[in-house]
Amino acid sequence: MRLAGRTAIVTGGAAGIGRAIAQRFAREGAHVVVADIADDESPAREGGDTVGVIEAAGGRASFVRADVTRIEDVEALFAAAAAISGRIDAVVSNAGVFRGAPILDTPPEAWDADMDLNLRSHYMVNRRAIAAMVGQDDNGGVRGRIINMTSQLGVTAPPDHLTYAVAKAGVAQLTRQLAVDYARQGILVNAVGPGRIITGHHPGEAEYLRDGTVDAATAYSLARTPFPRLGRPEDVAGAALFLASDDCTFVSGHLLMVDGGWTAY
Ligand SMILES: NC(=O)c1ccc[n+]([C@@H]2O[C@H](COP(=O)([O-])OP(=O)(O)OC[C@H]3O[C@@H](n4cnc5c(N)ncnc54)[C@H](O)[C@@H]3O)[C@@H](O)[C@H]2O)c1
Repeated sequence: MRLAGRTAIVTGGAAGIGRAIAQRFAREGAHVVVADIADDESPAREGGDTVGVIEAAGGRASFVRADVTRIEDVEALFAAAAAISGRIDAVVSNAGVFRGAPILDTPPEAWDADMDLNLRSHYMVNRRAIAAMVGQDDNGGVRGRIINMTSQLGVTAPPDHLTYAVAKAGVAQLTRQLAVDYARQGILVNAVGPGRIITGHHPGEAEYLRDGTVDAATAYSLARTPFPRLGRPEDVAGAALFLASDDCTFVSGHLLMVDGGWTAY
């Protein structure tokens, strides 16, 4: 129970990596505020809604429908989270979408839409998180912990995914900047950089999980990953847990790659 009594927000928590983080944090005793643009109870979400799964396992969670690109939704999300225990211990800014094209196929409106979600929303969530955390009591010298979701593709340049790569590199730099600017206020700001993580609902992934069928994208990812498998959402959840827990006391501005060695290769 490494997060007993803590309140944590996970954006994009209705599916994929965010869902695994929400479940793991709840198992460790946190009350998790799951925020997502998608209806958390959508039957398309295999295994049921995140909050329902957490509660069925004896954990505590709430769902807030929020589009993290909308400032009023971000405000409402933080107000709902603050109402639970009066403080927000950890914020995982995870919501994002893998989208991009070469520059000649990226008109300004596509650039703006992609940056809106994959970079600007992180600025808004982090800004609101810092505002909440600077005003709360410190706990063993730490007032709060922020974990941002970047990617191995924010450190390396993937073919033909301009906006994604630039946005994820921006999230990494946002992380370093805020870690420096708010260190004296006791706020630890770190990022997780997943490699290729199989969430099961992107093209080709269901087949890969079912019978090992490897499409071109999966073959590329396998070839780039020295560890002999692709990642699982739980791999990322374990890293996020470390960064949200009391074991993380002097780590800040760090990018923790969870990529099976992709960026080392
Ligand atoms: N899956 C991977 O291989 C991988 C690798 C590196 C980084 N990442 C990053 O991890 C994060 C999660 O990825 P995933 O693979 O779990 O994706 P996913 O599509 O499985 O889940 C993303 C969740 O975010 C939600 N979301 C999308 N737009 C939103 C918005 N405007 N407001 C609130 N919620 C919104 C979606 O509804 C969904 O529930 C993303 O930031 C992604 O870029 C994923």
